[in-house]
Amino acid sequence: MTSGDVPAKGPAWLTDGWPHIWLPYTQMQTADLPPAAVSTSGTRITLADGRSLIDGMASWWTAAHGYNHPHVLAAMSEQLHRMPHVMFGGLANEPAFTLAKRLAALAPGNLTRVFFADSGSVAVEVALKMAFHYHYNLGDSQRMKFVAFRNGYHGDTTGAMAVTDPDEGMHRLFRELLPQHLFCDLPTTPEGLERFKELLAEEAHTIAGVIVEPLVQGAGGMKFHDPDVLKDIAGYTRHYGALLIADEIFTGFGRTGSMFACDQARVVPDIMCVGKALTGGTMSLAATIATDQVYEAFLGTSDARALMHGPTYMANPLACAAANASLDLFEREDRVGQACALEALLANGLAPCRDLPGVADVRAKGAIGVVEFRRKPDVIALRRKFIDEGVWIRPFGNIVYLTPALVATDDDITALTSAILRVLSAP
Ligand SMILES: Cc1ncc(COP(=O)(O)O)c(C=O)c1O
Repeated sequence: MTSGDVPAKGPAWLTDGWPHIWLPYTQMQTADLPPAAVSTSGTRITLADGRSLIDGMASWWTAAHGYNHPHVLAAMSEQLHRMPHVMFGGLANEPAFTLAKRLAALAPGNLTRVFFADSGSVAVEVALKMAFHYHYNLGDSQRMKFVAFRNGYHGDTTGAMAVTDPDEGMHRLFRELLPQHLFCDLPTTPEGLERFKELLAEEAHTIAGVIVEPLVQGAGGMKFHDPDVLKDIAGYTRHYGALLIADEIFTGFGRTGSMFACDQARVVPDIMCVGKALTGGTMSLAATIATDQVYEAFLGTSDARALMHGPTYMANPLACAAANASLDLFEREDRVGQACALEALLANGLAPCRDLPGVADVRAKGAIGVVEFRRKPDVIALRRKFIDEGVWIRPFGNIVYLTPALVATDDDITALTSAILRVLSAP
């Protein structure tokens, strides 16, 4: 079934809407009609044809507590009926102010000022603008470039694309359209660290900041690095007067086995971006959190020193109510401990894949499990086979990976990992 055809079966909304839908990251001419999801609960997604899939993705890494958690739904329902939205330009709302206070308390060190955005990419855009403007306000207008790392991914908007790996990422086509920044390998070896240092030293006067996904490069292939690497990056970034931007949009809220990945390296970035699991998998909300020092550089008597950004749905009360309820659950239910426990389950469950032909590596960190191939497999065919096995797994590039809800049970993980083993072992 391709986008031009009429699907043979499925609910009417699927048939009627298909000729008008444009899917993400998809060649529509050859696209399969996507399976119709009609409800969710816990770690399950129910399809229109009645099948129930165990979710291995937590909906692009958002649904930390599983779907439809009653505490989150109750908080949202209450907020929905009282005030689903009110503009943030000039008006305050309680869920946003409460959430800002809580995020400041939770974030490492003196990351105390929270700027809300409506998606992860926008939070990254804000971080880049903030870093440039910080230096400008301190009297240095030359710092306009960012250092970013190969295999990094920071979003699909133009500013975020410009700091995403230009060769491995999905954005090669746009290279000429984008501002040119400085890329290097993550400094995981002494030689790599030397090169990173040299880059910073040579370009110091032009560098506003260094942006990194701490401990795990997610969309760039679920590649892990040690906390010491992050420590080195932080140390040299500071030494050369640039700001460290930690993009915790994927890694934040327990995914790597600590509340934030930066915690494992005891690194306090100057700016931290969060999103995805912030609302427990219910609504789009993100935040750019700055240290006192960054924030104070914006103070003064003139608007020219102020941060000029303000998305329409910024600090949406409904999304902030969901986020506050999600944080309640992190406080009450040891989600981070659950994420840590998932690491061994994922590692053990996926370990037999190591012996399969074409497999280059099997690894796990926190609630992330990865099977990496030497060559890119047919990911669309794999996706179909996983559905036939009763699991929702969406491989990309040369990896098949799991990022389940942090509340996934031992049985869920066994079902997910054994489905992967069965599918990958089949001739
Ligand atoms: C590390 C990282 N940064 C930024 C983004 C972009 O977030 P969004 O899709 O909410 O714009 C993503 C999304 O996958 C991400 O993984």
